[in-house]
Amino acid sequence: MSTQARTNSPKVHAETAPKIQPGSTPSIVPAPVVLTDRPGHLAYYHWVRAGSEAFAAMLEPEDMAIQSMPDASPTKWHLAHTSWFFETFLLLPHAPHYTPFDESFSVLFNSYYEQIGPQWARAQRGQLSRPTINQVLNYRTHVNAAMEQLIATTSQSTWETIRILIILGLNHEQQHQELMATDLKHMLAQNPLSPAPFDAPFKHTPQNISPLSPLSWSELEGGIVSQGRDLHPEEFAFDNEGPCHDVVLQPYLLANRLVTNGDYLAFIQDKGYGRSELWLSDGWADVRSHKWAHPLYWRAQEDGSYTEYTLAGVQALDLSQPVTHLSAYEAAAYAQWAGARLPREAELEHATKGKALTGNFYAPGAIAPHPHRAQRDEAPLQQLFGDCWEWTQSAYSAYPRYQAPRGAVGEYNGKFMCNQMVLRGGSCATPHGHMRTTYRNFFPAGTRWQFSGLRLALDTPA
Ligand SMILES: [Fe+2]
Repeated sequence: MSTQARTNSPKVHAETAPKIQPGSTPSIVPAPVVLTDRPGHLAYYHWVRAGSEAFAAMLEPEDMAIQSMPDASPTKWHLAHTSWFFETFLLLPHAPHYTPFDESFSVLFNSYYEQIGPQWARAQRGQLSRPTINQVLNYRTHVNAAMEQLIATTSQSTWETIRILIILGLNHEQQHQELMATDLKHMLAQNPLSPAPFDAPFKHTPQNISPLSPLSWSELEGGIVSQGRDLHPEEFAFDNEGPCHDVVLQPYLLANRLVTNGDYLAFIQDKGYGRSELWLSDGWADVRSHKWAHPLYWRAQEDGSYTEYTLAGVQALDLSQPVTHLSAYEAAAYAQWAGARLPREAELEHATKGKALTGNFYAPGAIAPHPHRAQRDEAPLQQLFGDCWEWTQSAYSAYPRYQAPRGAVGEYNGKFMCNQMVLRGGSCATPHGHMRTTYRNFFPAGTRWQFSGLRLALDTPA
């Protein structure tokens, strides 16, 4: 977030925010509306916070403590860290009588903020059997009570300062809600019992597999187009989405839909993982060193077919479902094999401008990309939002005139602008109301545990 963002507020209509009690299943109604007053902000605060607790309520305590790899964190850590964020950036500096729940948490749940102080090693978050999940939930309750007090009683001048920090904290928590889902999936996928904590949102049976929809292309003119957004007092955005600036796009073509499991299966059957000419050099090195032969959660069967591990357990591979859990290297190799390329992030942003922010976003207890057949319609560009993040060929870097905010909160985005690639559009694990056409997600190119897939692009023939 930026210094400008501190004066922003989101379009969230608090009066329509659903009421959620911890332990209940959250509504999937998009977080709504225009925050105009303190009660509105408080309602939005509770709506987001309760969503995290409702996710945890669907799990067992043992599910929430394990860390399956350094990049993924236990659910319990996410629940605590998101509270640490409010404690660190809101309560300690702005609530005069606030008493920390536990002084040791300032280190245990600091993720990467060097200006705040030392951090418990990221790769060792799974070693924290204590605090227990109940202690972490009590920590959340403690922070929530203090936040209620702060929002209700702070002076008007302080309110003007902290309002956007609260919204930043809630968007931060929504990002961690997505990570809770992807980290949980990675952890459960290591278990030979193939746990199925959630429902299957769609039937994945061989009898139910529908034929692929034909690929078609939309031609976009390009030219001088605007990218990004100037941060605005009425609309929250992360600092890395701005400033708005011009870019030049050559005419280009975008595929009507995401690449499906069926599309990707053809790449595998054509020995795509064995053909070095299709791969970026670093990607080919990963293929060989990690012995990649299919997407992360596919499981090869003796008869040559594949199943896929999902949060609803092992399912038959649905050929119409968007392929996901791909690295950028696999996405680029597939595009090369298909005679196409990955889109640039400016191309996807230009194509989505003005489009409704609807799609297959997070649904409580049922998280999976939707089979394409269910979304088939006449729109020339489908699945622009939700289902799976779309890898781009654009490196994550600063837009012209970008400046990270001053202070520790400036570490949120700016310091990661190196060695990562941009993804666009959100996924089936992205909370409703969290997406924007300018939203920039970013991960190293070898990352596979996010819901990441691709849409093909082409240069318009000269
Ligand atoms: Fe964080």
